[in-house]
Amino acid sequence: MYERCLSRFARVFLAVALVALAGCGSKPAPGAATPAAAPATPSAATAPAAVPSPPPNPELEAMIARADLNRGKIQFFQCRACHSLAPETEPGKIGPTLYGVIGRHAGSVTGYAYSGAVAKSGITWTAEQIDKWLERPSDFLPGNKMVFVGIQDAQDRANIIAYIQQETAKVAAK
Ligand code: HEC
Repeated sequence: MYERCLSRFARVFLAVALVALAGCGSKPAPGAATPAAAPATPSAATAPAAVPSPPPNPELEAMIARADLNRGKIQFFQCRACHSLAPETEPGKIGPTLYGVIGRHAGSVTGYAYSGAVAKSGITWTAEQIDKWLERPSDFLPGNKMVFVGIQDAQDRANIIAYIQQETAKVAAK
């Protein structure tokens, strides 16, 4: 009993020592929290992503499955003003290419200057996340620089997501 307590004490001591050591190694940036204010447990140091992943949405999956790709193509014209669907971001486009965006980490097109809101969101663009983003980008990631009011109709959003999926698959198959 006493021994078990002691070993638990040793483990806790080690964890605290590791946190303290980690604090010693890196000089805190001006304005950053001091090591004393650092989280006490190592697990708390791995903060969750800013936007939690939404649960799978069977309703959305069903809408994507019955999406009207021709309508998606027409609706994508409003995106095309700022986004291409080519593997590289086209010069002159305000937004990053949306080729392969489904499954991609937000803010990961190299060479594109994202806002901090997108770059630091920590999200992966699943169909669910894109659906929420397109509903009202300014609410989903406040401070982002996509000047787009949003699409209220859920089936319209699903059409666009299905169209992006289709076009990405076409390019990839070439
Ligand atoms: C007026 C220009 C504009 C329009 C219209 C627009 N976007 Fe964007 N979009 C942007 C910009 C700029 C960004 C980068 C945002 C940032 O860094 O804050 C972006 C970012 C995105 C991202 C995140 C990309 C990544 O690599 O993380 C997705 C997804 C996206 N837009 C989808 C769409 C879709 C789909 C449409 C059409 C329904 C659309 N956008 C319409 C300008 C636009």
